[in-house]
Order: sequence, then C-alpha cells, then structure tokens
Amino acid sequence: MSSNTLVAYFTKGGASEEYAKVIAKTLTANGFLVETCNLAHDIPDIASFDTVVLGTGVRISRVYRRWKKVLKQKALSSKNLYMFLSSGMAIEEPDKAVEKFLRPLIEKYGLKPKSLVSFPGKIPEKWAKLDGQKETMNLDKAKVWAMEIARQVQDL
Ligand SMILES: Cc1cc2nc3c(=O)[nH]c(=O)nc-3n(C[C@H](O)[C@H](O)[C@H](O)COP(=O)(O)O)c2cc1C
Repeated sequence: MSSNTLVAYFTKGGASEEYAKVIAKTLTANGFLVETCNLAHDIPDIASFDTVVLGTGVRISRVYRRWKKVLKQKALSSKNLYMFLSSGMAIEEPDKAVEKFLRPLIEKYGLKPKSLVSFPGKIPEKWAKLDGQKETMNLDKAKVWAMEIARQVQDL
C-alpha cells in the first residue's frame, strides 16, 4: 500500500528539520505521497493522512510545547503513528532519551505509536568546543528508520 503521509516537526536548532527531510525523502523514494510541515508555521489537520511521522527536539529536559499541541489531536489514534526525538542525550544513550522524553507523553496522551526513536541532536558550538566533538548528527540512522516505516506500512 502506498500511503498519504505527513512528516511534521518542530525544531529550534535545526536537527529535527534535517532528520524530517531525510525521512520525507526516503519515504517519497519508496512511493509514499509525503507532505512535510514545519510546525512553527502551521499546525496541520492530520485527518487526511494515513501515516503521520512527528519529530521534535528537546531543551532543558522538555520537548517543545508547540510540538505537543499536535499530540492532542484525537484523530492520531487511527493513524500509523511514528515519533522521533533529536536530543543531546541520544548521542550516547538513545534508548534512555526515548524513555525520558517521549514515553511520558505517549502515556499522557494515550498514543499508540508503531515506533519511537531518538536521533543524536546538535551540540551548541560553545559546548562542542569543550569536548572537541563537532558533528554529532547521524542522518543515516533516520534513513534506515524511514525504510523500516516504508516496509511496515507497505505490509499493512
Ligand atoms: C539550551 C539547550 C538546552 C538543551 N537541553 C537538553 C536536554 O535537557 N536534554 C538533551 O538531551 N539535549 C538537550 N539539548 C540538546 C538538544 O536536544 C539538541 O541541540 C537538539 O538538536 C535539539 O533539537 P533541534 O535541533 O531540532 O531543536 C539542549 C540544547 C540546547 C541548545
């Protein structure tokens, strides 16, 4: 099945946008009809989509408030829902970042995502200088995850 898909994200530092673009591109290459949405500009009505991919960053232990607005849409319960996080913690402890930042929201809003994942976020330049690490992101991880989404949805 090809799927009418929304990839929506909220970003402050740009990581979630870069991951969203890789995910959208990979799904498009797999025959999905994809709309990409920056939630800073628009909160879309998700009713017309079969598959919804939602991504956010985190700062000071909180995911972005505007991203959480989308989680309140009742129609999410009938979608193939996938969620990703971009975070500093995910550079070394991706599973822990999922449990800390995404899992409580899943429970709070009663969501049933088919997959939850965290990707390594960007480290602000002044912090990067301290530990010598500059490039932390891993776009390939998002590509592999998107290929898995394509496989799952096509098998439905
Ligand atoms: C001011 C600030 C606070 C941050 N706080 C956290 C944090 O509490 N936990 C964490 O895992 N990452 C933290 N980070 C790293 C961000 O999650 C990372 O920069 C990520 O790329 C944010 O996503 P975005 O680029 O899509 O906005 C912080 C980054 C900044 C700039």
